[in-house]
Amino acid sequence: MDQKPQPLPPPHVLIFPLPLQGPVNSMFKLAELLCLSGLHITFLVTEHINARLLSYSNIQSRFSNYPGFQLKTIPDGLPEDHPRSGDKYMELFDSLKSKSKPFFKEMLTSCSPCDETRRPVKFIIADGYLGFTCDVANEIGIPIVYVRTISACCLWIFFCLPKLIEAGELPFVGDDLDTLIKSVPGTESFLRRRDLPGFCRSCDLNDENMRLYSKEGEENSRAHGLILNTFEELEGPILTHIRSVCPNIYTIGPLHAHLKTKLSKQTTSLAASSSSLWKEDRNCMTWLDSQPSKSVIYVSFGSIAKLTKIQLMELWHGLVNSCARFLWVVRPDSVVGKDWESQVPEEVKEGTRVRGYIVGWAPQEEVLAHSAVGGFLTHNGWNSTLESIYEGVPMISWPYFLDQQVNGRFMSEVWKLGLDMKDSCDRNIVEKMVRDLMEVRKEEFSKRAEDMAQWAGTCLSEGGSSYCNLERLVRDIESMTK
Ligand code: UDX
Repeated sequence: MDQKPQPLPPPHVLIFPLPLQGPVNSMFKLAELLCLSGLHITFLVTEHINARLLSYSNIQSRFSNYPGFQLKTIPDGLPEDHPRSGDKYMELFDSLKSKSKPFFKEMLTSCSPCDETRRPVKFIIADGYLGFTCDVANEIGIPIVYVRTISACCLWIFFCLPKLIEAGELPFVGDDLDTLIKSVPGTESFLRRRDLPGFCRSCDLNDENMRLYSKEGEENSRAHGLILNTFEELEGPILTHIRSVCPNIYTIGPLHAHLKTKLSKQTTSLAASSSSLWKEDRNCMTWLDSQPSKSVIYVSFGSIAKLTKIQLMELWHGLVNSCARFLWVVRPDSVVGKDWESQVPEEVKEGTRVRGYIVGWAPQEEVLAHSAVGGFLTHNGWNSTLESIYEGVPMISWPYFLDQQVNGRFMSEVWKLGLDMKDSCDRNIVEKMVRDLMEVRKEEFSKRAEDMAQWAGTCLSEGGSSYCNLERLVRDIESMTK
């Protein structure tokens, strides 16, 4: 009797994030969404990231539920003793480009014909900063789509950098940071010099950041498409401009919430996924349980930002003087100089005991979802911004670098979800802004935040924009890998 033709194993996709906490978090969410859609996934991380995932995350147990998933590692080419702290991200990017590219190509070409249930990698999803992945994909004839884990509004500004330079708006002449920028369509009425990505203030056109980011438009057009961790209702007008450069974009965010929504329909309930690179201190959740509703401002500046001890003290005095309760993440490597524990004067520990709680790293998604949290003093890294929007938590922006200045301006001026404390770190300003957010203008910001959270939920429900774009992405992967 004729054998029935065996069904082909599912398409095999390789996912390669930037080796930083923010991008790793969002790309693991994407990987799980694609596993739930029936694809086979190879997730590629650097050896350094893998070691930290093994120490602090639940990735191994989490993805043991998906037989089509495997984790692979690649060297980042840095010396063993390199700190790999996010503030040295350009050294990391350069090393990946020059030293990891051969390993990446080797992995794809020498990929032993996988067992009969897994075909060789036929599709690549890589962070758009890793341009060498597109070189290799084109060399060996595999389709590639870039993921951008920054906001669309910042990506659009990167696309417009050559125009800013051509129009003489960069480098800045004079030091008036409140001058409006004219060469970024869609932002002329509110984008100031101080809201551009931090590196634009260096005014050095040969600055390595300027060189890298002013090629973003050209670089991103090389891939078959762009996956953006955002949603149409949030960044629609800017997305229209981006589509004029890269027509094929998949807005499927907020990714962390998209996964939550998909899993809520599953029978097997899985514990919250954590791809944390630091040890989470879960005692803060018990502390939150004993706080009144919406009474706590959560304070965290992501995985890269650093602050001086003077800034730490100004923030602390402002928080204490505001009389708000606060949960503050002071990441172990975040205070410039010695380890912060040895420097924090007794007054901070005393004052904090009254209404505050300090941890080295928190389960942030759960903290923002907690009923006691009513505000977020954030650096506006993109993952934190989306997590706060989805939970309906108003924000105060204190940006550190890169896309955070832009995100803070859109959050306060366009989406009206809070206040922008950009460029100041003074205890009186901190106190006033916290009081405004948590008391004086609480109703105004809570209403806006609840409306935006509603829109975020709608885009993820069946027929919503992000829901439909994820389906389109899976269909396109299947059709390009037949
Ligand atoms: C980096 C860049 O700094 C940011 O500007 C860019 O948008 C993304 O890449 P990062 O600084 O780490 O990201 O900030 P963010 O994007 O907010 O990502 C931080 C992640 O760590 C979030 O997913 C957040 O939930 C998580 N986090 C943060 C914790 O789990 N616990 C914490 O205590 C703090």
